[in-house]
Amino acid sequence: MSKKILVTNALPYANGDIHLGHLMEHIQTNIWVRFQRLIGKDCTYVCADDAHGTATSITADKLGKDVLQWIDEMRASHIDDFAAFSIKYDNYYSTHSDENRQLSEYIYHKIKEKGYVNERKVRQLYDEEKGMFLADRFIKGTCPSCDTEDQYGDNCEACGSTYDALDLKEPRSLLSDAKPIIKESEHLFLNLKMFEEELQEWMANSQVQSEVSNKLQEWFDKGLREWNISRDAPYFGWLIPGYTDKYFYVWLDAPIGYMASLQNLCQQKGWDFDKDFWRNPECEIYHFIGKDIIYFHALFWPALLQAAEYNQPTGVFAHGFLTVNGAKMSKSRGTFILAKKYLQHLDPQYLRYYFAAKMSDGIEDMDFNTTEFSEKVNSDLVGKYVNIASRCARFINRDFGNKLGKMPEQEQQDLLAGLVAEGDNIAKLYNARKFSAAMRSIMELADRVNKYIGNSKPWELAATDPKDERVQQICTTGINCFRILTIYLLPVLPDMADKVAQLLNIDSWSWQDLDKQLIESEICDFSPLLQRVPAAALEALLQE
Ligand code: 2FM
Ligand code: ZN
Repeated sequence: MSKKILVTNALPYANGDIHLGHLMEHIQTNIWVRFQRLIGKDCTYVCADDAHGTATSITADKLGKDVLQWIDEMRASHIDDFAAFSIKYDNYYSTHSDENRQLSEYIYHKIKEKGYVNERKVRQLYDEEKGMFLADRFIKGTCPSCDTEDQYGDNCEACGSTYDALDLKEPRSLLSDAKPIIKESEHLFLNLKMFEEELQEWMANSQVQSEVSNKLQEWFDKGLREWNISRDAPYFGWLIPGYTDKYFYVWLDAPIGYMASLQNLCQQKGWDFDKDFWRNPECEIYHFIGKDIIYFHALFWPALLQAAEYNQPTGVFAHGFLTVNGAKMSKSRGTFILAKKYLQHLDPQYLRYYFAAKMSDGIEDMDFNTTEFSEKVNSDLVGKYVNIASRCARFINRDFGNKLGKMPEQEQQDLLAGLVAEGDNIAKLYNARKFSAAMRSIMELADRVNKYIGNSKPWELAATDPKDERVQQICTTGINCFRILTIYLLPVLPDMADKVAQLLNIDSWSWQDLDKQLIESEICDFSPLLQRVPAAALEALLQE
């Protein structure tokens, strides 16, 4: 059995558009996946829409659409948005799929059969007009601790206290404005405590960031609480086997959506879901997620997988939140930037590079700072990297009939060897998700190359004799360095690499080819590879 890597992104909710926050995570993951493939790893990358839950059906109702039509439209729109940023999954599926229902039922039977499920009655607020139980975000009332009005059903924004919705004073339903009653119903709970030892063991043996294991340890110390996996009808989701009015909570079938997407892909490809992937001891599974959903991925999910005798995640990689110019993304402040809006104004490659230049392996929040965004892209990508090609290609095009020459000087070979020698370090940084350090290292190499061209002054030699072969040699060296830098940047800038492949007549890119050299081969006419960030376009994006 060959070693395989399976990678997933958190499944975007079907009831909202893709925004800069999603893009941060999916770009991070995409860079990592592209790097793994570039070094020759067998890496499968799946995602899906998280379709279920009351929020989706309520949005569809408001829009006067059938919920199934609504989730189809959203899925198509999400796929388009990601593709525009060069993020392509091997499969982008939906949790509302047969595969997901069957796997959810299977896993449920396993946890039930092994005695991990408890059943008991729960009292909750109920909207009689709408005929439904109310989730905390559909209830508002007066805070029981500080008497501030207009607070949600789970916590108070004024004093920060958390409480049970039943304790809220003057509660009202946000769906009908009616005063809810208290009603009792039966619910199913996963007894997480029974998994404690195994979860501790999973944590010790898997790749989790220190911040994540600290958080987990806190939860273990407080004592693991049981998890309500059921929701009352009406609910958009899967009916629980044996019930007519109870559904799986959306967070039960959401991570199972990773499996469903893979299973669907396996059917398309003729692969074996169990033997090749989820029960293959040689298959590594990595989930990239936001820090707000660590609880689900590092406790519930490994518990469910263990109960169903599937492999647990090899690693869970969490990231922080994204702020825009120092502030939380907010619709009213104009800092809630949608993928589609960004695309109307700016080149997606800018964003891929900017995120890469700022990303670390930690879970701290990241700021999208528009001034820094322009500076980084303009100075690094345009001023350093692309500059090498534009400085060198024009002499090769104009004076040497598009033909590269030789690189006979020791200095030239040393420069190239120096660039290749950084490959191991850059690969380590990519693999460890330390992308900002990788970008710094690549830009230092670009500085080196620009310095060499600056010192060699091909333009002065050309001014005396345009056919001076030293000009061809210097520019050939520059182009060869540019080729190496393109391989280093490929996980971040795949579209750029495509353009460079055309310019240099290269068929395919591989990390193994770093030390190959282009000698006396033909290149094409140079055309600008990337523009500076248009200040007016950036301004216009923020004004929207
Ligand atoms: O937080 C979210 O956006 C969820 N839709 C993520 C689900 S991830 C996985 F478990 F499916
Ligand atoms: Zn309060």
